[in-house]
Amino acid sequence: MTSTLPDATATAPAATSTPSVTSAVDNTTPALRRAWYAVALAADVGTDPVPVTVLGEHWIVMRLDGQIAAFADQCPHRLAPLSIGTGDGARLRCGYHGWEFDGTGACTRIPALGDAAAIPPKAQLRQPAGVQERYGLVWIAPDEPLADLPDFWEWDDAAFDTCWNSPRPTTAGAGQLCDNFLDAAHIPVVHTGTFGVPGSDELPAEPVDHADDGWTASTTYRVTYKNHDDPLVATGEHPLEQPQDLYKEVRPATTAFIRLGFPLTGKVIAILFSCLPVDAERTVVFKMMARNDFDGDAERLAASIVFEDQVLDEDLAVLEAYRSKALPTNTTVEVSTRVDRLSVAYRRLLHRMVTDTAPD
Ligand code: FES
Ligand code: FE
Repeated sequence: MTSTLPDATATAPAATSTPSVTSAVDNTTPALRRAWYAVALAADVGTDPVPVTVLGEHWIVMRLDGQIAAFADQCPHRLAPLSIGTGDGARLRCGYHGWEFDGTGACTRIPALGDAAAIPPKAQLRQPAGVQERYGLVWIAPDEPLADLPDFWEWDDAAFDTCWNSPRPTTAGAGQLCDNFLDAAHIPVVHTGTFGVPGSDELPAEPVDHADDGWTASTTYRVTYKNHDDPLVATGEHPLEQPQDLYKEVRPATTAFIRLGFPLTGKVIAILFSCLPVDAERTVVFKMMARNDFDGDAERLAASIVFEDQVLDEDLAVLEAYRSKALPTNTTVEVSTRVDRLSVAYRRLLHRMVTDTAPD
């Protein structure tokens, strides 16, 4: 049969070995489903369903039988959103016709049929591949996750105080945000109102470590930091501008972990960032902190949350200005230098998520 379509071969660009310049991920890239995402503060999830959205897909999270549970936000009966339903700790009750479901997602009661009725086997809620409560957060993995969460052991160590910022909605892309949390070269440029030291721009080029799981990359930068929290600064025993060992680690797809070590004080601040790709236009940043320099001082902890919000404001002023919300994963599109090695490793990790499920 002869095609009636125009012959495109005459005008088609020549094939090249260079990847397409359109290689990028954004908040709707399906391949990003194979990862953990923080969806809510654990303290905000009780026995009633809480609606959350991951990569444009709607879920509910709630506590059933003392466990965190997650289900697609859609009742199998007439597809009503289950987020308008209620929970009593043992059952989820749909808000339309009252069907009830247990912690496994199985329907246990259809009121209109009476208690003796058989329940259709298909009356079952859909669940994500994973749900867990960890580090003060509820996490969902829509599909089988490629890697575990970072080892944020400080969160569970009694020697550390824990606190967190309110989840921050933003229009920046989740990948762009995670990339920013892995970057160190912007500190003396962007964070001059908080901890950055103008003029301390030069960075040693540190190697990137890759964990055995094939999906974790990390490095330690040596930077200069204004340590407002060191009490010996006020006495003149320590300078305000101090060296800092800045460990940064990334996990699929948009979770970053950083550990700030201060050689002058021996103290540590660990921060977990998880960037939730809600949908094409929206991201939420979860920022959880554990630190051992305040000895339980609630006032100083509260002040540090305000400070950390200011730090995030400085980053968002840059990231929300981007016209595109996508993060290029074709590393030939951007110009990278030797101090961008972790950022390049992150792009390669994301590219591999899209093109191949198997680690190298
Ligand atoms: Fe949920 Fe009918 S739509 S019980
Ligand atoms: Fe920053």
